[in-house]
Amino acid sequence: MARALLVLAPAVVALCTVAAARPVAYALPEETPVALPPGLGAELTAATCSACHSLDYVTTQPRGKGAQFWKDSVAKMVSVYGAPVGKEDAEVIATYLATTYGGPAR
Ligand code: HEC
Repeated sequence: MARALLVLAPAVVALCTVAAARPVAYALPEETPVALPPGLGAELTAATCSACHSLDYVTTQPRGKGAQFWKDSVAKMVSVYGAPVGKEDAEVIATYLATTYGGPAR
């Protein structure tokens, strides 16, 4: 008897939990598409760098960090997070980002 209770108790708890769970709906704000300024490699950068996260990650970086920062950032996306970016594309993207965001704020 006690054994049967031990076996059944978790099932009863699980059933009660399922019965009490109600779906929750959240109204999320609309996604705002981020556009990159035109330039050589802009489209490649937008397509490549928006695969995992918003382009906000790119456009909101502080200005003036220079070309090496962007080269390292692209390399980090590839080596740490596994972004599928070939060597040549990585160079085009890093150059575009350095030109567009590497210098002082405009
Ligand atoms: C394979 C997925 C993936 C792709 C593709 C990707 N990223 Fe990321 N990125 C990440 C992850 C994961 C983070 C860390 C997110 C966090 O900490 O919230 C990140 C964060 C960043 C950051 C914030 C600073 C940092 O280093 O954590 C920058 C800048 C950035 N990414 C730039 C880029 C650029 C430029 C590209 C295009 C070459 C790119 N990302 C493509 C996964 C990716």
